[in-house]
Amino acid sequence: KKVVLAYSGGLDTSIILKWLQTTYGCEVVTFTADLGQGEELEPARQKALLLGIKPENIFIEDLREEFVRDYVFPMFRANAVYEGQYLLGTSIARPLIGKKQIEIAEKVGADAVCHGATGKGNDQVRFELAYYALKPDVKVIAPWREWDLTSRTKLIEFAEQHQIPIAKDKRGEAPFSTDANLLHTSSEGKVLEDPAQDVPDYVFSRTVNPEDAPNHATFLTVDFERGDAVAIDGVKLSPATLLAKLNDLGRVNGIGRLDLVENRYVGMKSRGMYETPGGTILLAAHRGIESITLDRGAGHLKDELMPKYAELVYNGFWFAPEREMLQAAIDKSQEFVTGRVRLKLYKGNVTVVGRESPYSLYDQELVTFEEGAVAYDQHDAQGFIKLNALRLRTLGQRKKRMGK
Ligand code: ARG
Ligand code: SIN
Repeated sequence: KKVVLAYSGGLDTSIILKWLQTTYGCEVVTFTADLGQGEELEPARQKALLLGIKPENIFIEDLREEFVRDYVFPMFRANAVYEGQYLLGTSIARPLIGKKQIEIAEKVGADAVCHGATGKGNDQVRFELAYYALKPDVKVIAPWREWDLTSRTKLIEFAEQHQIPIAKDKRGEAPFSTDANLLHTSSEGKVLEDPAQDVPDYVFSRTVNPEDAPNHATFLTVDFERGDAVAIDGVKLSPATLLAKLNDLGRVNGIGRLDLVENRYVGMKSRGMYETPGGTILLAAHRGIESITLDRGAGHLKDELMPKYAELVYNGFWFAPEREMLQAAIDKSQEFVTGRVRLKLYKGNVTVVGRESPYSLYDQELVTFEEGAVAYDQHDAQGFIKLNALRLRTLGQRKKRMGK
């Protein structure tokens, strides 16, 4: 029996690794992904070796480009935002990790996969929906739902028993839980659990406090092609390097902090703090270029579909037909979403200050307050308004008749 474990190299997944070996007595294959979380991956390999994993059973992959190109960018074409605010940084990464685990399982002939998400959250759902969609007969092991290591003390005891190295700062209870990748860092739990209490300063890790950001504005341009960002200040960049560059700009200007109470798919409310510096700039920029290149009908329909799309991503239905249907519609809308947006970053704010496109629908001749184009005859507006007013006048007359 073989199992492919999503392995970060941290204490928790190292405990899971040992627990799989001892409780399930199975051969463990580890998979460690670089999604831009900003951690070295080699230590994870060393640790896996130390815990008795055979070299050929250790898989480490740099997924940064694939993550941004095939997951983050398609999602940003939709301007997806969950419950009005959350840019879905964790949600969008899980399907990719799940997909890679299944690919490795097929390659090494493993019949099971395992993740380190708890039994109370969204991530278990996202991982497992991806697994089942891509390998319907897979066996899923979710240690947090199964084991009796239900307290920090028991976990540390287990680690000591099995010679798992424990960093000094990991002995006690971690003050909060984080998940990081190129798109965002999220923090939840422990010190953040009371939604009435402010997020302590030490929780923020990838943005400066807006109040400490520079006293002068930073300007940049972002170029789009068919809805995807392709260049910053005229310099072409790959998807992952582009997002990393936006993250740098966002970090120093204090952009993309969010303190949110959200509804988890499993039914409870949870409070989290998110930092999505580059993503916040990208969303504003994308809306900026859409504002001149999208037709009103297409744009408004897209905005109606967006909450549904965001909910599907949040709930883990990336590999579901309804997400793919919506994606096809959204991608179609992006055909002419090409051009340049100029942005201003200042103390936590991102503002669009200019937009231009060879496909612009903006017609200065049409809109000008000066004497304008022949395509628009102001006299037409009279009939337009009168017919639109017909119902309202009829209603108004009834009201008057009834004396109210
Ligand atoms: N609540 C966020 C989501 O469901 C983040 C979950 C993972 N975050 C964490 N700190 N463990 O997408
Ligand atoms: C977890 O429960 O493992 C993290 C939080 C979540 O998945 O919502």
